[in-house]
Amino acid sequence: MYTNLITELSNYILTIIINRPKYLNALNRQTVLELEDCILKAQENNLIKGIIITGSGEKSFVAGADIKEFIGLSETEARYLAHIGQSAFKTIENCKKPVLAAVNGFALGGGCELAMACHLRIASEHAEFGQPEVKLGIIAGYGGTQRLIQYIGKTKATEYHLTGKNISAENALNFGLINYIVPKDQLIAKSIELLNDIIKHSPITISAVLRSLNSFYDINEKGFESEINEFGKCFLTNDSKEGIAAFLEKRKPIFKGN
Ligand code: HXC
Repeated sequence: MYTNLITELSNYILTIIINRPKYLNALNRQTVLELEDCILKAQENNLIKGIIITGSGEKSFVAGADIKEFIGLSETEARYLAHIGQSAFKTIENCKKPVLAAVNGFALGGGCELAMACHLRIASEHAEFGQPEVKLGIIAGYGGTQRLIQYIGKTKATEYHLTGKNISAENALNFGLINYIVPKDQLIAKSIELLNDIIKHSPITISAVLRSLNSFYDINEKGFESEINEFGKCFLTNDSKEGIAAFLEKRKPIFKGN
């Protein structure tokens, strides 16, 4: 039914597998739209009480937005790209059923942002998180500047957004970014176990808890809009063209500050 997603339903839990392993499950536009559609449908399906999102293969959860789609973007197109991603990720965050990210490897850029939009995160030992956009001459656009602060605080969020360095699973656990680390062969079993501990409760109560927790951050909605503006403006610079080209040409970028 979907081009880039595999879905499996078992015992009231829907597992959504992002399936572009050749590109480390990078989120192209179509995948983002499919993901939003899948969550909206799952929300209305009485056979589904909880959702797991994971990546195909052992190496990567999601290695970010698809960098190939950044080539030649105008500011308006870049803003639109950030907007559709933020909308999809807010659909996940506002889902009335619990959504858990089973992070099976790289969760970088849009991948980290996707994991952060989920209500819970379990990572395998080799998982790595991070917001490496700065290396491409751009910034996060799917809510990463806002949600990383929410989870790990401004001090560490600033460091990781500005250095672009990866956050190991161990540090992610210590910073409060994830709920658990498990050996990779136990990732899905532990995810199901945690979801089962939740979905045994009333779905009405679960939705009420999720709505209530989300409302803590409602006052900060302006930051998401600001991220879209800044993401769009990045695409007016030569440095973003250089950063994106350098990644695709597998070389180091030379930023000139223009
Ligand atoms: C497109 C990607 C990709 C991505 C990897 N690939 N990440 N393609 N978009 N985000 C592709 C590579 O080009 C390569 O394709 C194949 O996947 C395997 O990747 P390698 O780089 O060869 O693997 P490896 O050397 O193991 O390095 C893994 C990696 C690296 C460290 C994860 O791939 C990497 O740095 N990826 C980019 C991470 C990143 O910058 N993410 C943020 C994107 S911006 P070929 O065809 O060469 O085999 C973002 C912004 C979100 O997410 C907001 C938007 C609005």
